[in-house]
Amino acid sequence: MTLHVLREARDDRPPIVLLHGFPLDHRMWAATAAELVGSHEVLAADVPGAAGPDAGRGEPSLDTAADRLAAALADRGVDRAVVVGLSMGGYVALALAERHPALVAALGLVDTKSTADTEEARAHRLRVADEAERTGTVEPVRAMATSLVGESTRAAQPEVSDQLAQWIEEQTPAGVAWAQRAMAARPDRTDVLAAFTGPVTVVVGDEDTVTPVAAAEHMVAASPAAQLVVVPHSGHMSAVEQPAAVAAALSDLAQRAASA
Ligand code: MLT
Repeated sequence: MTLHVLREARDDRPPIVLLHGFPLDHRMWAATAAELVGSHEVLAADVPGAAGPDAGRGEPSLDTAADRLAAALADRGVDRAVVVGLSMGGYVALALAERHPALVAALGLVDTKSTADTEEARAHRLRVADEAERTGTVEPVRAMATSLVGESTRAAQPEVSDQLAQWIEEQTPAGVAWAQRAMAARPDRTDVLAAFTGPVTVVVGDEDTVTPVAAAEHMVAASPAAQLVVVPHSGHMSAVEQPAAVAAALSDLAQRAASA
């Protein structure tokens, strides 16, 4: 798995590792990373479905993605990290917490949920995966450039959807199919979150219709030490729509991890 260095380490604290949402790649974190306060190294991964050398390679599985992330971090000599995931990235973060618990110093769960898909959602994902492969295009996910962002962003920052559209266009049909099948196969990991003893911050856009505030509250209820941050004027892509607010929440999480 490719790890991109968004900021060099200025001390030996655990790095912040950022995991992107679907159908995007590590670039969606750039604006948030630029606003992070502190001296940690900041790394952003490309989950195997993302555009790049790994796009869509191997069995579709977020467990495999978590294992590849653990291996990539081990290669860099990282044995503890503040792990942050937006949406699909959050699913990978929870898989990492289950499969490599010693690696996870703190969890940032952004616009995501700990539950599995409904049967209906799973069937939809499999149809999208088949359609991406059949057409050899990213057409089945193009509309997400607008549907993922909140109404406020659509009205006040139309350039956000333009940027998402460009990133989506640069993904591959094979990668889209891989990620949809991998997400469809993931289990409910609310118990993993409940068992996690390190600091947790749950972040959600107040206009998120994909993983709404209720999904964030469900995670906070499962994890009594978790802090909830509701980001105003944001949909499902809070790290792109309101990067300063998300960076403030994550900087605080990293600080809590350092003093835990
Ligand atoms: C994402 O943003 O990663 C996707 O909306 C996740 C999902 O489809 O569950």
